[in-house]
Amino acid sequence: MVTLKTLKKDAEVQALIKTGEKQLDAMAYTEHSIRHASIVATWTGMLLKEIGMPEKVVNLGEIAGYLHDIGNSLARHEHAVTGGILAYNILKRLKLPVEDCAEVMMAIGNHDEKYGIPVSVLSAALIIADKSDVHRSRVKDKLLSEDTNIHDRVNLAVNRSYLNVNNEEKRIDTVIETDPLICTVADYFEIYDTRMQMCSKAAELLGYKYGLIINNVRML
Ligand SMILES: [Fe+2]
Ligand SMILES: [Fe+2]
Repeated sequence: MVTLKTLKKDAEVQALIKTGEKQLDAMAYTEHSIRHASIVATWTGMLLKEIGMPEKVVNLGEIAGYLHDIGNSLARHEHAVTGGILAYNILKRLKLPVEDCAEVMMAIGNHDEKYGIPVSVLSAALIIADKSDVHRSRVKDKLLSEDTNIHDRVNLAVNRSYLNVNNEEKRIDTVIETDPLICTVADYFEIYDTRMQMCSKAAELLGYKYGLIINNVRML
């Protein structure tokens, strides 16, 4: 059986994630390393488990989460689409049933907010998990200056972020703890507006409402 553990031990997967990180380093982009892959894998699986999906779907969620940014090894541009194809071939080599390879491919191909849309349970969970990983550790240059761009400033301000599923209220929340001295809530909304809209559509597909809590205040 192919699991997250299988991928963590697979030389090809590790090489592609590391190459992707190298490329984004060169572009001075936020961190997209094994850390991000592992967090998104865990959160996608956790989300699917908490909304009551069967173990098989939870496992595919972890796989999709771990592989979702693998396309960065080719180029940042269209990385969701290239990543989907790469993941499909890797999973086929590992003998995952082709229907499951295709499900993972579709979820990865739709995770980017520029062109992607939630098209399946798997893709919806992946989108919410991916967009919720905002954290200061993702910024390479941690020295704040007047030149720090808004993306880095928002990430730098976040001390903690996590997902919370409330099955009674049918709500999935991204919970964020930020340092208000580094970025304002308005900064957050300025750059995450598209991502939040995508998360709302994703939660809707799962039969839930999407919420955002920043420093104990519900924003959405
Ligand atoms: Fe991505
Ligand atoms: Fe990502």
